[in-house]
Amino acid sequence: MKALILAGGSGTRLRPLTHTSAKQLLPIANKPIIFYGIEAIASAGIKDFAIIVGDTAEDVKKEVGDGSRWGVNITYIKQDAPLGLAHAVKISKDFMGEDPFIMFLGDNLLKEGIPEFVAKFNKHKVNSLILLTKVPNPQQFGVAELDASGKVSRLVEKPKKPKSDLALVGIYLFDSNIFKAVEAIKPSQRGELEITDAIQWLLDKGYRIEHHEVSGWWKDTGKPSDLIEANQLVLEMLGSRIEGEVDSESQLSGHVILSKGAKILNSKVVGPVVIGVNSTITNSTIGPFSSIGDNVFIENSSVKNSIIMEECRIVNVNTPVSDSILGKGVAIEGKGPDYSDHSFIVGDRSNIALS
Ligand code: TTP
Repeated sequence: MKALILAGGSGTRLRPLTHTSAKQLLPIANKPIIFYGIEAIASAGIKDFAIIVGDTAEDVKKEVGDGSRWGVNITYIKQDAPLGLAHAVKISKDFMGEDPFIMFLGDNLLKEGIPEFVAKFNKHKVNSLILLTKVPNPQQFGVAELDASGKVSRLVEKPKKPKSDLALVGIYLFDSNIFKAVEAIKPSQRGELEITDAIQWLLDKGYRIEHHEVSGWWKDTGKPSDLIEANQLVLEMLGSRIEGEVDSESQLSGHVILSKGAKILNSKVVGPVVIGVNSTITNSTIGPFSSIGDNVFIENSSVKNSIIMEECRIVNVNTPVSDSILGKGVAIEGKGPDYSDHSFIVGDRSNIALS
């Protein structure tokens, strides 16, 4: 079995962060989102990967490399425009040959491991295995309808009046029949070749499709609030590791990862929190649920439920910075109105002076 990871797309819902970063490289608990998918697939024993890349190809290649750090081989396939998930499948045909493959959206995170799905796909000798999960807002997803016997009968992309609350998770297993489907379907109204249409084509032609309902959480990091939530979910699974320095005036509680060269001075850190290399936290409160990148400086401030990327400075901010995402090298200084928390979604290198 091979792997196909999709890391193209436009990432419009994550602007301004995606003006300067590929969405799949945004950090969750200080690690690029796409690394979680690669690690999950590699730990299922799959070695040959293709990654679909778009406008941010060079950044993705630089960060991810040739796969050797995970013991896998990565080939990059350029998608000239984000013409849809099924289009990404179409352009991977030569790489896949006759092999079955797992397709994984590079901005998705899944708690459960991959081996169980791969085993089910192989054992039941199906043409496709799709993963489903119950969601409260099926209108925003590809949705699967099941028949009376519990088999998938129909797939609909973002239905206005959903007949089921089972959303398609961005992880799919296919055999090479999927290439017949992606050749046969036509672009949807939004101009994309939809993977739901391709799977529907397989269903209509009598190919065998099974589904698996995921038991743990699944997160599609399409919007800023999804990133903050994904950060919470991943932080909750991490343990503690103190490699940096904590002075005697500081207090740490819960799970905290403090990287090399990081310093906590006269501060309170309430886990789960991860703090990157060479960051300094002084006279401040951090956490819970916060990821602080490398070389960050926080003084006389407090941060909770946020993603603070590398080289940010937060100084003398009087009310907590919460539910925020700060891109690389953002500086926030000064006092704002003190009646509520401050919440920011700001792109790289922004400066905010509160007064
Ligand atoms: P989406 O989140 O559906 O699309 P997007 O990245 O264009 O984002 P937005 O809607 O905010 O503009 O994409 C899911 C994943 O698939 C994501 O990792 C990007 C990738 N993708 C491709 O590689 N090629 C494509 O043609 C599309 C549509 C997405």
